[in-house]
Amino acid sequence: MNNLTRNSAAIFLTLAGVCVATGAWADSNQVASGMGHELARHICSSCHLVDPGQVNPPDHVGGPTFQSVADRSDVTVQSLRRHLRNTHTNAMVPLAMPNPGLTEDELVKIISYIISLKTHS
Ligand code: HEC
Repeated sequence: MNNLTRNSAAIFLTLAGVCVATGAWADSNQVASGMGHELARHICSSCHLVDPGQVNPPDHVGGPTFQSVADRSDVTVQSLRRHLRNTHTNAMVPLAMPNPGLTEDELVKIISYIISLKTHS
C-alpha cells in the first residue's frame, strides 16, 4: 500500500466511524424499541399479539394486544413498569399475567417498544 492509499483508507475509516456514531445516537430510541420488539416476540407472544396494528378476535381470552395496550391513555412508561415488575396471578385469578421476570435491560427495551406503538399521545 502506498502512502496515498493508506491515507485515504484512514480518512475513509474515520468518516465511517463518525457516521456510525452519530447514526447510533440519533436512532438510539428506535434501536431500543426494535430490540424490544424482538424480545417481546420471544417472551410475550405466547399470550399477546405483539405486532403493530394487530387486533384480538372477539372470542379471545388472554392478554390484550400490545396495540390496544399502547393506545390506552392511562398507559405510560411508569404504568408498564409497574405492571411488568409484579405478579398478577393469585389463587383467585390464576389466569392473570405471571411476572415475566425481565432484567432491567429487557424491561427498558420492551417498554420502549410498547410505547412506540401509540398511534396518538
Ligand atoms: C402466560 C401468559 C402471559 C405472558 C407470557 C405475558 N402476559 Fe401480559 N398479560 C396476560 C394476561 C392474561 C393479561 C390480562 C390480565 C392481567 O392484566 O393480568 C396481560 C396483561 C398485560 C398488559 C396490560 C396491563 C394493563 O395495564 O392492563 C401488559 C402491558 C402486558 N400484559 C405486557 C406483557 C409483556 C410485555 C409480556 C412479555 C414480557 C407479557 N405481558 C407476557 C398474560 C400474559
